[in-house]
Amino acid sequence: MAEAIPATISGQPVLILKEGTSRSRGKEAQRSNIAAAKVVAETVKSSIGPKGMDKMLVASFGDVTITNDGATILKEMDIEHPAAKMMVEVSKTTDNEVGDGTTSVVVLAGRLLEKAEELLDQNIHSTIIVDGYKAATDKALGFLNEIALTVKPEDRAMLKKAAMTTMATKMVSENKEMLADIAIDAVLKVAQKTKEGYKVDIDDIKVEKKAGESIDETKMIEGIILDKEVVHSGMPKRIQDAKIALINSAIEVEKTEFTAKINIEKPEEMKAFLDEEERVLKGMVDKIVASKANVLVCQKGIDDLAQHYLAKSGVLAVRRASESNMEKLAKATGGRVVVNLDDLTGQDLGYAKNVEERKIGDDKWVFIEGCKNPQAVTILIRGGTSKVVDEAERSIHDGLCVVRDIVQKPCVVAGGGSPEVEVSSRLKQWAEKLSGKEQLAALGFAEALEVIPSALAENAGLDPVDILVNLRAAHGKGDTYAGVYAEGGVRDMAKLGVYEPLVVKEQIVKSASEVASMILRIDDVIAASKSGGAGAPPKGPPKGPEESED
Ligand SMILES: Nc1ncnc2c1ncn2[C@@H]1O[C@H](COP(=O)(O)OP(=O)(O)OP(=O)(O)O)[C@@H](O)[C@H]1O
Ligand SMILES: [Mg+2]
Repeated sequence: MAEAIPATISGQPVLILKEGTSRSRGKEAQRSNIAAAKVVAETVKSSIGPKGMDKMLVASFGDVTITNDGATILKEMDIEHPAAKMMVEVSKTTDNEVGDGTTSVVVLAGRLLEKAEELLDQNIHSTIIVDGYKAATDKALGFLNEIALTVKPEDRAMLKKAAMTTMATKMVSENKEMLADIAIDAVLKVAQKTKEGYKVDIDDIKVEKKAGESIDETKMIEGIILDKEVVHSGMPKRIQDAKIALINSAIEVEKTEFTAKINIEKPEEMKAFLDEEERVLKGMVDKIVASKANVLVCQKGIDDLAQHYLAKSGVLAVRRASESNMEKLAKATGGRVVVNLDDLTGQDLGYAKNVEERKIGDDKWVFIEGCKNPQAVTILIRGGTSKVVDEAERSIHDGLCVVRDIVQKPCVVAGGGSPEVEVSSRLKQWAEKLSGKEQLAALGFAEALEVIPSALAENAGLDPVDILVNLRAAHGKGDTYAGVYAEGGVRDMAKLGVYEPLVVKEQIVKSASEVASMILRIDDVIAASKSGGAGAPPKGPPKGPEESED
């Protein structure tokens, strides 16, 4: 229905919105948004922690994804509700910023909203809740920094503990040790030392995957892999001390843009025509050979005849490499991507110690190893099925991000819910000094943090209430690192080697609080009509008597 503003002086209602626009306001809008966000949090809660379950997501075309990665679950879920979409966004942001904690952030945001709902029920205005949450967030970040340990960025043992912690929660947990080593090797290879510490660009690490063999066969290669085979069987399959030409134009006779017709009447003319084509192709190959290149990577096609000439000259050639691979190759080998063959000189060539075609499963791939720039690395993931390989890729991504996080900011906290309980108990003490309603909001925030240990306990089949009571008691006695032991009970997480980057925990707290506040501040949802009629926010939970509209 179009929105009508209260009658004007003349008694006529004024329509300000289009026909079909839906609008919900005040508490109704707030409750509906909170309910939707809570559903999202509830959905991913069961996948948190080392005993978390996986989800099987089936896309509309039937593609199946099996994962317990929060960001991936939410991305694949195709969520429609606008407030629920904000939860998906926050998970994505966390993934982009720190690479891990994408489930925790959503679960925490959900519990913050649940606590806010309780406060709203006590007639505390959302502005006060938002302010209280903001103050509590700042304090919580301070407490996290107080309990964090500073480590050395090159401390392999610590990097390994953190990488193993993050991978222990994934399908690949059996192989976490070996995968952690690979992640550390890769990150340390591409890390650049600057005045302010290390800088790591995770995009410098290329990840390739191929179903087959087992995860044990996953390897780091110092160089680049092209998922293409050598174009001609007569070419060498291996070249040492490779000088690599990177060409961005086709090694083919150019076709005219318009339809041309030539009349051939005599056999000699036919021969002359073909000879000319041959001559042009030979000329192209000669230019490559003259530059002293012994490997050619072409972004476009290579004519059969040109392949033959290249093979005769002992050049190993690959065609139709992707643009991103060309860029990576240029960076790794120190070569330049040349568009016009006439411009190709020896100076444009890149260098690699070894270029070789190897069989990976049923395919043949070309490995370019020992590059000029040692910062070029590739992780080649293997595994039983494509589902395993896909999930392994996501887990290695988490591992790489966690190692990067610590190398860039060398501070860690113990995991297993221990920082959440510690920060929560310190927040409760701090909140006592606050006055009235703000205190209630701060306490709500402190209690919300306990959702993480409680979810870890629940997923491990333990009684969350028992565990929380024991955890609070342990922290009360000064056991800062007491956390949820997945096999049952409460243990010192630092002793168990369960560590996580400080930046991940900071991001979780910051982002969860941000999205919860954002959702709380909304008191009016105006949705334009959509052809599918999906624009209107779904109805919230049934209204109680006290929830009548403002
Ligand atoms: N061995 C362990 N014992 C207890 N808790 C653990 C252990 N390993 C990891 N955890 C805890 O599990 C939680 C992380 O779980 P999980 O990796 O499933 O979620 P996430 O990191 O929030 O999201 P995602 O990894 O999907 O981005 C952290 O709180 C971490 O401390
Ligand atoms: Mg994780």
